Amino acid sequence: MTDKIYSGEEIEELRSLAADHLFMHAMQTNDWIKGGLQMFVSGNGCWVNDVEGQKYLDMMGGLWYKSAGYGQQKIADAAYKQISDLSSPPAYSTTPSTVKLSAEIASLYQDKKCRTFFTSGGSESVETAVKMAKKYQQLNGKPKAFKIISRRFSYHGSTAMAVSLGRASYSDPMGPEVAGVVYVPHYDSYRPPIPGNPSPDQISEWLVKELETTIIHNDPDTVAAFIAEPVSTSSGIHLAPESYWQGIREITKKYGVLMIADEVITGYGRLGEWFGTMVWDVKPDITTTAKALTSGYIPLGAVIASEKVANAFIGGKKETFSHLLTFGGHPVATAAALANLEVMKEQQMVKNSKDMGTYLIERLEDLREFKHVGDVRGGKGLLAVVELVKNKKSKEKFGDEIDLYSLMPKFLRDKGLLSYRAGDMISICPPLMINKDEIDFIVEGIKASIEDLESHLSSN
Ligand SMILES: Cc1ncc(COP(=O)(O)O)c(C=O)c1O
Repeated sequence: MTDKIYSGEEIEELRSLAADHLFMHAMQTNDWIKGGLQMFVSGNGCWVNDVEGQKYLDMMGGLWYKSAGYGQQKIADAAYKQISDLSSPPAYSTTPSTVKLSAEIASLYQDKKCRTFFTSGGSESVETAVKMAKKYQQLNGKPKAFKIISRRFSYHGSTAMAVSLGRASYSDPMGPEVAGVVYVPHYDSYRPPIPGNPSPDQISEWLVKELETTIIHNDPDTVAAFIAEPVSTSSGIHLAPESYWQGIREITKKYGVLMIADEVITGYGRLGEWFGTMVWDVKPDITTTAKALTSGYIPLGAVIASEKVANAFIGGKKETFSHLLTFGGHPVATAAALANLEVMKEQQMVKNSKDMGTYLIERLEDLREFKHVGDVRGGKGLLAVVELVKNKKSKEKFGDEIDLYSLMPKFLRDKGLLSYRAGDMISICPPLMINKDEIDFIVEGIKASIEDLESHLSSN
């Protein structure tokens, strides 16, 4: 691990090169040039070190993926060994690491006879799952089924189909969505989709009915699949009750609509079980994963097809899934993924996610006393959110009068906390080996940052 601290001159030179040539993802160039682009050189556990030698706790676990934490030598060694032995196999063949990973995923997944199609990341996994679902339907008596129902304001990725499925509020407008995407509302316990003061089960009942109506109105013969994240981060980390998931599963089965669980964030322990759907005892037809499969040591995605779906593709030419991604399931990544899952098991990270998730939500509950904390949600593993509102009583959101998404990350950084995803929603998604002291550090840092916000608001 490098402990190199860059000199002021070196940092200036890097920043100047970046200012001239780098196109950052989903960031305004003027902002990061003005604010000073952050660059990191090393990390260990939940902590990362930047080029200036500053140490931070990464409370977002990278971009929702650093589940095994930073600095796991075993994962680095596995990737190194694979790239040294055989960097990639000839076309239409595979490697032992990829075979073993498919078996390892099956051992963790609900359906032990599942088959895994590897990709390079989350968006590719979603695109693959949608194509798989459509072809499955063609092969199984629903040749007209091309529609996919998704929950508006989800996030399913950045490619054309994936972005159409989500239309997260922060996605760029792209003109018309991909044809065939149909939306239903999300589960939201804080601002329920129905009037009055409905219970979680009442909200669920209404939403499940809404899904059924949508399927009927669209003609069930044309609907291929329903896609949803077990917990959607883009729509505010709401945890639906079991009645919601059981109801959804029942309706999808009733109309022959495949259920795709998008577990790109929740897969591999995030919610305190290996897969998020296990929390609510739901068995999807297809599951999309990526991120924590390698804890971001190297890109990899995986689409897990249940036995029923996978078997539909076994036959002759007609049944072949003619879908190919040159680097999908790259062996260096599958070797890293195997080591990553081994590390997670050795260090009992999934259990820790469950235990520390309970501790985290207990500690976050204290924040409700703040004037601008509208809600605190989480409790299933290490995924939680603190929602800030302008008016607690009316639940009115902050508007353009304040740029929370630039202020809050700054306040948090001053407390040694890294989060790019902090504004009206302060999301928390740390590595799964986090301990109580580190959770205390996060909660105290958020508390102090909300105090900073209150001072800012009263002085402006
Ligand atoms: C639920 C979900 N699906 C899909 C994706 C897309 O993954 P990627 O960015 O690896 O393409 C993301 C990314 O955050 C996600 O959260």
